[in-house]
Amino acid sequence: MKIGIIGTGYIGLTEGLCFASLGQHVICYDIIKEKIEQLNKGIPTLFEENIETLLKDNLAKKMIEFTDDLEVVMKGSDIVFLCVNTPEDPDTGECDLSQILTSTKSIAEMSDKIGNKFFILAVRSTVPVGTNKKIKENMLKINRKLNYLQCSNPEFSRQGSAIYDFMNPDRIVVGVDDEKSKEQMGLVYKPLTDKGFPIFFTNIETAEMIKYSSNTFLNIKICFINEICDICEKTGANVTDIAKAMGMDKRISPLFLRPGPGIGGSCFPKDSIALSKIGKKLGLSLKIIDASVDSNIIRKNSLADRVIKLSKGKSLEGKTVSLLGLTFKANTDDTRYSPALNLVEELSKKNAKVHAYDPHGTEKFKYMVDPKALDSIQFFENAYDAVKDTELLVIITEWDEFKILDYKKIYQMVKQKIIVDFRSILNEKEIEKIGFKYYFIGKDLSKI
Ligand code: UDX
Repeated sequence: MKIGIIGTGYIGLTEGLCFASLGQHVICYDIIKEKIEQLNKGIPTLFEENIETLLKDNLAKKMIEFTDDLEVVMKGSDIVFLCVNTPEDPDTGECDLSQILTSTKSIAEMSDKIGNKFFILAVRSTVPVGTNKKIKENMLKINRKLNYLQCSNPEFSRQGSAIYDFMNPDRIVVGVDDEKSKEQMGLVYKPLTDKGFPIFFTNIETAEMIKYSSNTFLNIKICFINEICDICEKTGANVTDIAKAMGMDKRISPLFLRPGPGIGGSCFPKDSIALSKIGKKLGLSLKIIDASVDSNIIRKNSLADRVIKLSKGKSLEGKTVSLLGLTFKANTDDTRYSPALNLVEELSKKNAKVHAYDPHGTEKFKYMVDPKALDSIQFFENAYDAVKDTELLVIITEWDEFKILDYKKIYQMVKQKIIVDFRSILNEKEIEKIGFKYYFIGKDLSKI
C-alpha cells in the first residue's frame, strides 16, 4: 500500500518513518521547502529518539521520500494521512482548524489534475467532534467529482517516545462510515495487528471524541495528583507513596500519577481547553474539565512565587536564578506550553534574571517565550556555565544528564545553597549531605 503524509511535524514525520519501516512506501509532504530539502538529505528537523537512524535507513532503502509538491503525494498514495497542526486559537481558545482547511482545500482542488484518482483521507490530527463531517462537506463543495473516502484515525503517541508508541500501540482507533475504508485501514495496520496490537473501529464522531476524552482524562489525572501533592507538602504525607498505593488499584493504574511543575506539551493543555470550549458551544457546564484547565494554569503561574518563597523568603529582584531545563518534558526539543515559560515570564515580571540551559530546547524556547521576558534570560551551552554565580538552582525538566551532574562542584558555584527540584530527580540524602537545602516536589515544607 502506498502512503501519503501531509505535514511533517512531530506526528507526520515520526509516523511516516514508522510506516516506511513496516514496509509501506511513504511520500511525506510539507509546504516548507527548507524542511523538505533537509529531510531529503537525511537531517532530522526535530529531536526524537531514533529518528536519525530511521530517516537515513529508509531514505537509503528508498522507502520514504519528501516533497513540497502536493501533486506528487496525491498521485503516489492510496491512503493520505492528514497530520497538520491544530493549535489553540490564541483569541478564542478553540481548536484552530486553519491548517486542516487549507490543506484539504488544496487536496480537493488538486484532484482534478490527477484525473480524480481514488484515495482514502485518514484524518490523524486532533480535531473537535464534527470536524470530519465539515471537512468532507467543504471538500465536496470545492470538487463535486472528488473520488475519495474519509476516516478519522487519531494518534496517541507521546513526544520523546513517539516511534515506540506507534510501533507498540495500546490500541489503534479508526472511525469509519464505510466498509472500504475499514478494510483498507485494517490492511495498512496489519503489520501491527498481526503482532497482537488491537484495532478498534467505531464511527467517525466517536473516534474524534476518543482522542479528546483520553487526553483530557490524563490531564485531569495529573492535575489531581498535583493538588494532592500540595496537601502533602503542608501535612507531611508522602505523595510518592500515595501515588504508588493508589496505582496498585487496577482501576486507577500507576501511570500519569507523577506530580510536577504543571502540564505542558502540544496536546494535554490545548485539548482540555478545546474540550471545555466544545462544551460551552453545546450549552453544557463541564465543571471537571474547566477546573482542570484552571488548575494547571494556576500551578504553572505559581512556580515563580514558590521559588521566591524557598529562597529564604527574600525577593529575587536584580538577582539571577539558574534554570536547568526548558522543554515541557525530557527527550524532546518541544517547549510548547512548557512550565519553564511561565516560570521565566513570572520571574522576569519580578525583575529577576535567569541563566538557562537545556540540552535540546533552547532555540524553540527563544521562539516561544514572551519577547518581554527574553531580555532577562541568558542561555548557556552547559549546566555548569548556567549555574555559575547564580543565586539558586531550579530544575524544571527531568533530563537524565541533570541527575548525574557534579553537585559538589555546583555547591561551590551558587550563592544561596538551595536547589528547587520541580521533578524530584535528585537523591535527597546525597544532596543534603553536600550541604544544600533541597526542595523537591511533594517535600514536607516544614522540613525546609
Ligand atoms: C500526550 C499524550 O500522552 C499522547 O497520547 C498524545 O498523543 C499527545 O499528548 P505528550 O504531550 O508528548 O503526549 O507528553 P506526555 O508524556 O503525555 O506528558 C504531557 C505532560 O504531562 C508533560 O508536561 C509531562 O511532564 C506531564 N506529566 C506526565 C506529569 O506531570 N506527570 C505524569 O505523571 C505524566
